[in-house]
Amino acid sequence: MGDSESPEDVQLEARLEEQEAFEPPESFVEQANVSDEAIYDEFAENWPDCWERAADLLDWEEEYDAVLDDSNEPFYEWFTDGKLNASANCLDRHVADGRGDEAAIEWVGELGETRTYTYAELLDEVEEFAAALRDLGVEEDDVVTMYMPMIPELPVAMLACARIGAPHSVVFAGFSADALATRMNSADSEYLVTCDGYYRRGDALDHKDKADEGLSGVDHGVDTVVVDRLGDDLDHDLGDGQHDYDDLVAEHEGASVDPVTRDAEDMLFLMYTSGTTGEPKGVKHTTGGYLSYVSWTSQAVLDIEADDTYWCSADIGWITGHSYIVYGPLALGTTSVMYEGTPDYPEKDRLWEIIEEYGVDIFYTAPTAIRAFMKWGKEYPAEHDLSSLRLLGTVGEPINPRAWKWYYKHIGNEECPIVDTWWQTETGGMMVTTLPGVNTMKPGSAGPPLPGVDAKVIHPNKAEVDPGQAGHLTVQKPWPGMLRTLYKNDERFVSEYWAEYSDADEDEWIYFPEDGAKIDDDGYITVLGRVDDVLNVSGHRLGTMEIESAIVGVEGVAEAAVVGGDHEMKGEAVYAYVITEDGYEEGDDLRDRIVEGVEDAIGPIARPEQVVFTPELPKTRSGKIMRRLLEDIANDDDLGDTSTLRNPDVVDDIQAKVGDD
Ligand code: WTA
Repeated sequence: MGDSESPEDVQLEARLEEQEAFEPPESFVEQANVSDEAIYDEFAENWPDCWERAADLLDWEEEYDAVLDDSNEPFYEWFTDGKLNASANCLDRHVADGRGDEAAIEWVGELGETRTYTYAELLDEVEEFAAALRDLGVEEDDVVTMYMPMIPELPVAMLACARIGAPHSVVFAGFSADALATRMNSADSEYLVTCDGYYRRGDALDHKDKADEGLSGVDHGVDTVVVDRLGDDLDHDLGDGQHDYDDLVAEHEGASVDPVTRDAEDMLFLMYTSGTTGEPKGVKHTTGGYLSYVSWTSQAVLDIEADDTYWCSADIGWITGHSYIVYGPLALGTTSVMYEGTPDYPEKDRLWEIIEEYGVDIFYTAPTAIRAFMKWGKEYPAEHDLSSLRLLGTVGEPINPRAWKWYYKHIGNEECPIVDTWWQTETGGMMVTTLPGVNTMKPGSAGPPLPGVDAKVIHPNKAEVDPGQAGHLTVQKPWPGMLRTLYKNDERFVSEYWAEYSDADEDEWIYFPEDGAKIDDDGYITVLGRVDDVLNVSGHRLGTMEIESAIVGVEGVAEAAVVGGDHEMKGEAVYAYVITEDGYEEGDDLRDRIVEGVEDAIGPIARPEQVVFTPELPKTRSGKIMRRLLEDIANDDDLGDTSTLRNPDVVDDIQAKVGDD
């Protein structure tokens, strides 16, 4: 690899540009965990028992009676009456196997400091912290909230909770104080694990202030544990009910806490995610089905083996980090790399430096990151020896073929298969992707549904679309990693995911993930994106309603509509169209307060790219806001026929303003 555009480079680019299909390299296939395409038939012919293959990756204290119980659809149960503990599966059994000295977590801090936790060390600290949590009063089934950046104490706390049967609810550290309070109130969570702060681009940032502010909005008492991440770089005080993490762990040094026996269907964790309404949804995942599913997909799709060094660059505050930094990789006993910082600090080669240094075998990231790598230039990866890599993956949003090919060439050196994995918080794990040792890859298209996953692209009348046509992506059979319900809201669970296409009278249950997709003649699925009012900003899922209600809460705002506009780096960016209240002036002051309002209610990730003041919003004759039109305006697309609007004149006005900004 070189950084100049030699004639060979140009030729290679041209060849890659034309190539539409890529075969996995022979050397990969030979060693792959799954390399026989017969697996698709085996799963189809033997469904649902095929899922025993996933459950077999775990140690069960008691065998399950049935693989699937579908007697109360869509409240499916998996591996019923089976008993197990997730932390025992992620830790104890590897130590018992004599692998206690092998690295479980390789943590790289932003300032360059590193920490290695062997499986034995991780188990020790998990037991110590589990003992501390119990001392604080945490009992089985109490929800413990975590509000922490990428520091090792986060997976320690998650596994400690799993050990004592207390579900965790991790709130992304970039979310605001309000967002934390909403989630703690919704989950009746009386315990919080957080930290004093963290480093970003070398600066020590306060996090505890935000946590304290969040706590002031929680309507019940909370015991808080604070990790001292910043040492002398930031002083913090502990208030009533606040405890220092290191002190607690030291007090319980050498503690031994037996893993609590959990039923397969007992809750492992809650994860709040955005939906169509303003209120985040508490997605409930269980112990047996979820852990089986993430272990299986880690093995089959990410090709993880115990002696690999594997790195997923997501944040543990999102589902990708739960499933594919913590639970899947650790259940398989591999070494999981965790990086605290940003990819361009201190330099834009930070990630490639880490891959070289740790000899990373498998790397899993998001298209938004790949777009940034492309923009920075191929010289950064070229400075490093990335030959340890054997497989690459992406998740979170559609990847365009150009970005796919860049990743393939400049990171994978045309020697690593790429898995483009479609899934969601709700699905727990991957659903649609190629199997890297089996399938041809087609850049831009995620691939076929995984074995045993019944994903279909359908019309509103439920007929499957013809090849080349777009429709709605659906999943027509349950799978072990599926969400079981929305926390304390069974009704919303049914209406959000099952109402659109199911027919209860016919006992037909179809899961609708609210994504649009296209199907090819070979059954490959190309995911097109959300069809509901959910935005995907840099791979982060945000509800337009949540942002709108934050904006309407700002003094001087009468009405607001939020849509996603195309954005080169972020995929989608937030566009806010705002009508002011009489007596308030449009302008920078109000614009700043709107941005601040969104940051306070949700977090900087939801910050509007543009705030466009308008006297009116385009509405249909029946009074509905024409969001499509607002999207087209944001994207500078052809608007088509606007004559059905009640107020067509407003369109020119808004267009002019978007152009101006
Ligand atoms: C989108 C992230 C296209 C999709 C794991 C989905 C994707 C939403 C892909 C879920 C992909 C995820 N190709 N789109 N490979 N992966 N998405 O819950 O719109 O944060 O519904 O889970 O991301 O986002 P979530």
